[in-house]
Amino acid sequence: MAAMSVIGIDFGNESCYIAVAKAGGIETIANDYSLRGTPSCVAFSQKNRILGVAAKNQMVTNMKNTVFGFKRLLGRKFSDPLVQKELKHFPFKVEQRSDGGIGIRVNYLNEDNVFTPEQITAMLLTKLKDVAATALQTQINDCVISVPSYFTNAERNALLNAAGIAGLNVLRLMNETTATALTYGIYKQDLPGAEEKPRNVVFVDFGHSSLQVSACAFNKGKLRILATATDAQCGGRDIDMALADYFTQDFVTRYKLDARKNQRAYLRLLQEVEKLKKQMSANSTRLPLNIECFMEERDVSGDMQRSQMEQICAETFNRVERTLRAILHNAKLRSEDIHSVEIVGGSTRIPAVKSLIEQAFGKHASTTLNQDEAVARGCALQCAMLSPAVRVREFSITDVQPYAVRLAWDAARNEDGDMEVFPAFHAAPFSKMLTFYRKEPFSVSAYYSDQVPYPDTFIGQWQIKDVQPTPEGESQKVKLKVRVNIHGIITVASASLVEKKQDTSQNENIEMENSSENAQNQDTPMETNGGNQDQQQQNGPENNQEVRDEEMKGEPQQKQSWTQRVGQWFSGESDDKKDKSKDKSKKVLVKTVELPIEAQTHGLSVHELNGYVEQEGKMQAQDRQEKERADARNALEEYVYELRGKLSEGETLHDFVAEDQRNKLVNHLDSVEQWLYDEGEDQNRQVYSDKLSELKTEGEPIKQRRLEFELRPGALDEFALSIQLTNKAVDLYKAGDAKFSHLAETEVQKVIDASKNALTWLETARQALAHTPRHQQPSHTTHQIRQERQNFENLVHPILNKVKPKEKTPPPSNQTAGDGQADGNKDAPSTQSQEQMDVE
Ligand SMILES: Nc1ncnc2c1ncn2[C@@H]1O[C@H](COP(=O)(O)OP(=O)(O)OP(=O)(O)O)[C@@H](O)[C@H]1O
Ligand SMILES: [Mg+2]
Repeated sequence: MAAMSVIGIDFGNESCYIAVAKAGGIETIANDYSLRGTPSCVAFSQKNRILGVAAKNQMVTNMKNTVFGFKRLLGRKFSDPLVQKELKHFPFKVEQRSDGGIGIRVNYLNEDNVFTPEQITAMLLTKLKDVAATALQTQINDCVISVPSYFTNAERNALLNAAGIAGLNVLRLMNETTATALTYGIYKQDLPGAEEKPRNVVFVDFGHSSLQVSACAFNKGKLRILATATDAQCGGRDIDMALADYFTQDFVTRYKLDARKNQRAYLRLLQEVEKLKKQMSANSTRLPLNIECFMEERDVSGDMQRSQMEQICAETFNRVERTLRAILHNAKLRSEDIHSVEIVGGSTRIPAVKSLIEQAFGKHASTTLNQDEAVARGCALQCAMLSPAVRVREFSITDVQPYAVRLAWDAARNEDGDMEVFPAFHAAPFSKMLTFYRKEPFSVSAYYSDQVPYPDTFIGQWQIKDVQPTPEGESQKVKLKVRVNIHGIITVASASLVEKKQDTSQNENIEMENSSENAQNQDTPMETNGGNQDQQQQNGPENNQEVRDEEMKGEPQQKQSWTQRVGQWFSGESDDKKDKSKDKSKKVLVKTVELPIEAQTHGLSVHELNGYVEQEGKMQAQDRQEKERADARNALEEYVYELRGKLSEGETLHDFVAEDQRNKLVNHLDSVEQWLYDEGEDQNRQVYSDKLSELKTEGEPIKQRRLEFELRPGALDEFALSIQLTNKAVDLYKAGDAKFSHLAETEVQKVIDASKNALTWLETARQALAHTPRHQQPSHTTHQIRQERQNFENLVHPILNKVKPKEKTPPPSNQTAGDGQADGNKDAPSTQSQEQMDVE
């Protein structure tokens, strides 16, 4: 069975990182260019897709078909103001699809193709999957992927869809700063004990297009995210754009060249200012910016100093400061409550950002973590915790759901029809049970209560089906489990009809239920928004008022392992079932019946998803086919160069082919080379391999002759040595050597004859070979020589190595004076020659 993969993926706006959990620890994986970071870039050509580093490398020459910045498009509609803003920076075409979604139009395989951001993301994920599979030599399925903590339901669902298209099984979508916090906490040996005051650490991740800050409380073996503060519109790229605008203006003034009128020039400018920005992080002196052949075949140059950049980008830095201050407010912390501030993300390398952090928290910005890899590492750790493949230290993680969530239901009946199920920064994953009294099917909808960085606050609508009145015509009790799941997605996970039963004999689907008072007492940390027992009585079942909520247990208060808890989230097992059974007082037997739910929420339908999976499969097959084709073409090209080089004067193969034949072959090679750059540029794989076979029929015999020429002397010498050793043994026999005294003369004569014949054969071969020119087929091949030696040895060795019979226990007095050869020689001949032969 192939080993199970345990990987974490940091899917960044600019680049992605992959980490793997192994028995020895966490490692970051390098890609096919030996780089740890893979650009979030997908390009299209006439023949294939180009992914990652290769895509970024060809961006300037294939602008219209190189897609980047798609992480920000996930789960959004074309009309979304953010999308409209992003479009302005894209050199590729983006359009509205018939369903209002985003379509990215590219030329692929010489045809216009429109892909969704989910598909493009899936393409990048298949590349990452491939990189991991190559590095680990195993199939990749299970993984944990990072998401910005500010992602809403729609974006999270879209990323899960993308992973699904790429054939990845996502064990968790993990908030980026939570992944970082895990990477920090799991190795810390000095965290305060469980009962002590926690250590509060602030994590700042300033990446390419967003800023995320979180405050996290650590105790031994656990972390709890207190709050987050984010700015989805503030990142390193805003600095790049501000600098590009500055230089655009500068070039207009000084060169009368307007980069805004030339997408390619603007793209190059962006790439150059990004380099300059990075240099400015390390140098405060004035630095040059030079771009050759910028526009109208003219070179441009400019310069900038760090302090100047800080002025130009003042707005970005103000936003950073605001977000840093917001975390103190959101987490209700003062700076003196904070133990340390850890920074990650490429843009925290900017000195101005570090000093803003120091000002905001009164603390040095600490770089304990690898700034680029911390997120991926945290994801790999989380994946290991969720997977049975690798054992990791137990570490409990409590994340937050950053936005308040409201649930609304058919308010037509004079009910409130609306309640807040999760306030902002509520612990996650988390489930709440809500009880409804209904006689008929009904629906509930979830909304974000406040402003979220997404144009629509709608989360989803769920139709609860098959609800009927009791035989007495009364309302039934229906329990809904509303959940922020492990991916941070809000959903109605289940609906069940609760029928009270008196008869204990019906044990199927029967569970013990707490009375409401007990439930209330027990659920100390529970939310008490919404109705309660009083309301239930007041409104009565007929009013169908939402009556009770309960907390899902199994959160950090529980003494359960992380894996057990996760198992429950996956299995959808209701934690309150277990706790209820603990309660000994006032029990009522109930039967629960799962009700069908029809959900209407963000994300692709199964039908759409299957269609995309199929399309992705076809594109992968096409890429594979193209790779095989390119490999076949390269193999042919390589053979042409290699053979022609070796045939030239003074090179290894020159003498092993007759001159006229060599000239003919070189001409042939030249013509194949010509063909390769001409009509052979774009042929299918078979054409290349046929041509290669054709060339090989000419080239390989030459190579073979050269090889023969190199190996032959060794084969001849080995044969000569074998004859020599045999003759030595015969000489010993003739000299009466005791080791051979048991051999029959007739047998030894056979050896003598064979040796003579062998020598004759060998001498004839040597003579013939000496007279064969190098370019001709040799009269005797190495193989023949070895075969001849083998035949010779097969004949003589059994005779010479014949075991000497054991002498019959001679009385000590009879022992002949002499060399005592009777002893100790029964197993092995003692002469050097025989030992050597035995080894053969
Ligand atoms: N030395 C440096 N000085 C200034 N900026 C830098 C430096 N090194 C990298 N950056 C910037 O950091 C950004 C990339 O950071 P990072 O890799 O953390 O982003 P990402 O994870 O791809 O994006 P995001 O987190 O927004 O999804 C780029 O804007 C890059 O220019
Ligand atoms: Mg990032």
